[in-house]
Amino acid sequence: MPRPRFITLEGGEGSGKSTQARLLADRLRNEGHDVVLTREPGGTPGAEAIRALLVTGEPDRWTPWSDALLMTAARVDHVQRVVRPALARGATVICDRFIDSTRAYQGAGRGLPDAALTRLHEDAVGLWPDLTLVLLLDEVEGLRRAEARASSMGSTEARFEAIGADFHARVQGFFKALPAAEAQRCRAIDAAGSIESVGSRIWAALA
Ligand code: TMP
Repeated sequence: MPRPRFITLEGGEGSGKSTQARLLADRLRNEGHDVVLTREPGGTPGAEAIRALLVTGEPDRWTPWSDALLMTAARVDHVQRVVRPALARGATVICDRFIDSTRAYQGAGRGLPDAALTRLHEDAVGLWPDLTLVLLLDEVEGLRRAEARASSMGSTEARFEAIGADFHARVQGFFKALPAAEAQRCRAIDAAGSIESVGSRIWAALA
């Protein structure tokens, strides 16, 4: 397989994706690669403005389809303005969450059909990652970590975290099943243990 250039990190709350995305970007830069590190929802001014609508406020602020369409609107802007231009100039793009988060949260979590979400993605975005690293951590432990981090940072970005245990169990169920279901593109990464040990597993998955 040629070296993957569009790499996404996925997983439930508190799985350590953002830390690992930064580590991976640093490691590839140290090897001399041009790396763009970005995130969803967000990554452009317009998509960050949409993010603020999505991640704050009460869980029922938006309906499932409103969430999915806002996530997709942000993704279209981000892919067109940041991801595609970076790939076109030969950079490696590392993205913290992408379409699989919509399938997990709005699909498995909130009941929208996966076929409808992937069809919408095909039509509106039309770009899939070369490699998706799925960080797997027990969702109760992950939520505990995410809540501890949010309260220490005074974060207001807790709309999805607040939805409830059953919802997060369905999200986690999707992520657990994904690596085997889409084995060409996805790799499971055990996200338990130290930052360094998880980083080594990710590096090994890239090799
Ligand atoms: P983050 O804080 O992990 O960056 O993600 C923000 C929240 O947005 C997180 O709770 C997951 C949620 N989310 C979705 O529900 N659907 C999506 O498509 C994306 C990208 C994120």
